[in-house]
Amino acid sequence: MNKFPSLLFAAIFLLLSLLTAVACGDEEPTDPGPIDLPNDLLEFTYDPEDYTVDYPDWLGQMEIPADNPMTVQGIELGRRLFFDPILSADSTMSCSSCHNPTQSFSDGLATSPGIDGILGRRSAMSLVNIAFVNNGLNWNGSSQTLEEQALEPVMNEVELHETWPNVISKLQQHETYPQFFREAFGISDRDEMTKELAAKAIAQFERTLVSYNSRYDQIRFGSGIFYEEDEINGRDLFFFELATGLDHPGCSHCHGGVQFAEPNFFNNGLTEAATFADFPDKGRGEVTNVASDNGLFRPPSLRNIALTAPYMHDGRFETLEEVIDHYRSGGHPSPNVSSNIQPFTLSDEDRDHLIAFLHTLTDTSFINNPAFQSPF
Ligand code: HEC
Ligand code: HEC
Repeated sequence: MNKFPSLLFAAIFLLLSLLTAVACGDEEPTDPGPIDLPNDLLEFTYDPEDYTVDYPDWLGQMEIPADNPMTVQGIELGRRLFFDPILSADSTMSCSSCHNPTQSFSDGLATSPGIDGILGRRSAMSLVNIAFVNNGLNWNGSSQTLEEQALEPVMNEVELHETWPNVISKLQQHETYPQFFREAFGISDRDEMTKELAAKAIAQFERTLVSYNSRYDQIRFGSGIFYEEDEINGRDLFFFELATGLDHPGCSHCHGGVQFAEPNFFNNGLTEAATFADFPDKGRGEVTNVASDNGLFRPPSLRNIALTAPYMHDGRFETLEEVIDHYRSGGHPSPNVSSNIQPFTLSDEDRDHLIAFLHTLTDTSFINNPAFQSPF
């Protein structure tokens, strides 16, 4: 045999084996891409279990919207969505990036960067006992319900910077979310997954974030243990007001009640302003369009306040010492500063006692509650 035919055979053999390899390759599992589930979800059981949030009567009354009753399955779906970066455009951030359980669902930053690294203008708020807020959510009360509020961060350009149609399409393609949506809401088809249902689930999870086991709660409502001396003095400075004059901290004017937050809006003297137009952040005025509401903000609950520094809507104070120094000085003048913001006499020792009292509002069982942690 001369060389030429054997080369030809070799070439044909090589070609054939290549073809076989390609054919076999087709049968190998490759990246499946979007999962090709049927739209129909009826194979999954819809059998929701009612859920009642367990809290003592003295904590107040939580309003639950009639069209969003709480269920075990709804809460679980909400918890997943809350901790899942699938809600952001580049899958890097979730709600929990700014609302981290260990910091009472805040983030330890003055203002928080979103997925593009751009800072928002306000500080992330703690979500402790968020279900008991009934004068509007956010620093200025701009959002009426948790369902409404939960839609905002996805669309906010300096937060998750995504669109809801994209989020829903990612959730529809997902391996397990269609099943979870069915189990929570009884939908029968993936096309029925909506942003409204996602927001309802998140709101259900948020309503479980209830705290009533701080040292303060244990002492006031229960169990034998008692304050240290410095805490008692701090408590009295916080709550009691002298009959004459305004020479006292007067914190409970605005942070009274069992949530340590009056359901109103105040100017606590953070910003000097000559006219209503001069407030850099209009606060409540943005919601009402009433000039005299500019510069008013909602006093947040002081529960877990030792865990949520820095403080105020713009995170301007690093420590509780700085916060109390601000109040002690009487704050800055402006046309609508509250009459309860006045300079008062307070020794540094008394200031430390006031802070010791604020520390009794810390509930470590809340931040460590396994039900509030990431499911991933
Ligand atoms: C980039 C940081 C960031 C992310 C991400 C984020 N938040 Fe927030 N959150 C904030 C800030 C800042 C505020 C205060 C907004 C304001 O007053 O303008 C806030 C306010 C809130 C409030 C109101 C709290 C109160 O006391 O009134 C709720 C509820 C909330 N966020 C839930 C969520 C949920 C749910 C998600 C995910 C869907 C989310 N947040 C994602 C920063 C963030
Ligand atoms: C006139 C009402 C008023 C009084 C009196 C008042 N506060 Fe406030 N407090 C507010 C408001 C409103 C805010 C939110 C202000 C903002 O960020 O613009 C606030 C915010 C705070 C914060 C920061 C909360 C956070 O999550 O960042 C702390 C801490 C605080 N107050 C403690 C106190 C203490 C302690 C006293 C008594 C010395 C006191 N406050 C007296 C209205 C008041």
